[in-house]
Amino acid sequence: MTLPPEAYLWFKSLHIIGVVVWFAGLFYLVRLFIYHVEANELEPTLVKPFKEQYALMEKRLANIITTPGMVLTILMAVGLLIMQPQFLLQRWMQFKLFFVFTLLVYHLYCYRLMRQLSNNNCNWSGRQLRALNELPTLFLVIVVLLVIFKNQFPTSAATWLIVGLVLFMAASIQYYARWRRIREERLNAS
Ligand code: HEM
Repeated sequence: MTLPPEAYLWFKSLHIIGVVVWFAGLFYLVRLFIYHVEANELEPTLVKPFKEQYALMEKRLANIITTPGMVLTILMAVGLLIMQPQFLLQRWMQFKLFFVFTLLVYHLYCYRLMRQLSNNNCNWSGRQLRALNELPTLFLVIVVLLVIFKNQFPTSAATWLIVGLVLFMAASIQYYARWRRIREERLNAS
């Protein structure tokens, strides 16, 4: 059976929708882990109900949004590769597959953290989880650049300027969030 040419565009559209859903899930999941860990700092009577609520939200988010997004992304990618198998021989695709594999390891690791959190034996601090939550952003940027620029991966001065600006913006957001957190902690303590 040969697929009509427009099937490629359907696969690509659904692939991108899958990517958006997958990443939305990954970003929010680790954010929930941060709230879950920081629930330990709440008033003692609130700790248990808050942790139970976060555990439930994490499980639903992971099973109803994040993993289905991942499955859709990969199934549609398989469709794309069946229609354009020569991509597999190209360097950009080989790099892309390496980063996607690392992303899958990250996805599975989130499940492990989720189990540890619901069993109350997670050793990660809120700060470490915040740093962990930066990883998917990095994968997203690299994979999108690879798929758009393909073998002409940009290395010019203008590119490094844009990369520098993006990093500066990301660092400023982190710095502002940290400043707000510290200010709230001080206000609560006084
Ligand atoms: C199993 C893993 C994956 C495979 C085999 C795969 C494969 C592909 C293929 C063959 C295309 C079509 C390229 C073209 O027509 O020029 C594509 C498009 C795309 N992929 Fe993936 N992909 C995978 C995972 C991902 C992930 C994790 C992301 C995001 C982080 C992603 C982002 C994109 C985007 C944004 C496009 C559209 C690019 C365009 O043509 O404008 N892919 N992918």
